[in-house]
Amino acid sequence: MTNPVPIPQTDPRAGYLELKPEIDAAIAAVLSSGQYILGSVVERFERDFAAHLGAAQGIGCASGTDAIELALRACGIGERDLVFTVSHTAVATVAAIERAGATPVLVDIEPDGFAMDPNALEAALRDPPSGRPAAILPVHLYGEPADLAAIVEIARVHGLRLIEDCAQAHGARYGGRPAGSFGDFACFSFYPTKNLGALGDAGIVTTSDASLAQAAREIREYGWRERYVSDRIGINTRLDPIQAAVLAAKLPQLRADNSRRQQIAARYDEGLVGLSMRLPPRRAGASHVFHQYVIRGKDRDRLREHLQGAAIGTGIHYPLPVHLHPAYNGRVHLAPAELRNSERVAGDILSLPIYPQLSTTGVDRVIAETRRFHQ
Ligand SMILES: Cc1ncc(COP(=O)(O)O)c(C=O)c1O
Repeated sequence: MTNPVPIPQTDPRAGYLELKPEIDAAIAAVLSSGQYILGSVVERFERDFAAHLGAAQGIGCASGTDAIELALRACGIGERDLVFTVSHTAVATVAAIERAGATPVLVDIEPDGFAMDPNALEAALRDPPSGRPAAILPVHLYGEPADLAAIVEIARVHGLRLIEDCAQAHGARYGGRPAGSFGDFACFSFYPTKNLGALGDAGIVTTSDASLAQAAREIREYGWRERYVSDRIGINTRLDPIQAAVLAAKLPQLRADNSRRQQIAARYDEGLVGLSMRLPPRRAGASHVFHQYVIRGKDRDRLREHLQGAAIGTGIHYPLPVHLHPAYNGRVHLAPAELRNSERVAGDILSLPIYPQLSTTGVDRVIAETRRFHQ
């Protein structure tokens, strides 16, 4: 018997190969232009990406982590400020809050979902640790918007900034509007495996507030308003024009890529129904763009091994909530003191293969092997 063709959990190279002529030409144009820092290619991509979201402005930066730091700094958030976010996220969300000088407060996720629980958030705001509550930073994890109606209202009532971590949610929608259009800022990562991925590190913040946009633009480049004159303290986190050119070549395909991810998710839903595991929840009124398709089951580790044996890659996003990482454990504020839902999901989640170029035959093989495991 011949070995089955491996199915990776994600495949950014396939995304490159699909648009190779366009991407190669876009990179070559930057190389010949001599403009290797910011410039018109970056500006055009910033405009196009912001327009895609219905935001007034985009400020490109070097990564999704930097995007969060930049948004917080542009809001004037730093020392002694509390930023409420979740523990069930990429460590980058929490790392960026600390890099901005602020204090993260980690709240639990919904009992039957993967995103910030508005009830837990309210409870945390009733009894915050010492410091000034300054911002809420929900994460639209796996491509599904958080409960924005409730979170937007909580931010309004408490007079807090709302910064959306959209690193996994390019093109997701909530109540008919793009995820990322609800907060003061939306922060995106273009890490290669994301729904819109560069060929290296890259990120962007979007906002429709002109003065916040101006602040972010200045802080991105040493606090310069005018070249060589720092009006405020800044950092260097510019979007590389080569990555901007790659992203500009891929942006027109984002909608089709997201539709393909949704088709794959629907096929998994249909094919995996009735097994002793939970399929991904769908929030009413939201459009999930399936950065990840995440199932939950007690036998997660054995299923993972079984799929590995059938040359099918899987992932765990993420094996540890942030508050249990050695660098954060016992040091970071939790509200409440135990994040039971966050800890529970870390033990039973499994991300199945999903990327736009994954064939239907491949999806069916994943379904068949998962069903075989449950027989
Ligand atoms: C939810 C979330 N937030 C933030 C980030 C940070 O993005 P980057 O890796 O581009 O710094 C990522 C990606 O890793 C992410 O998934």
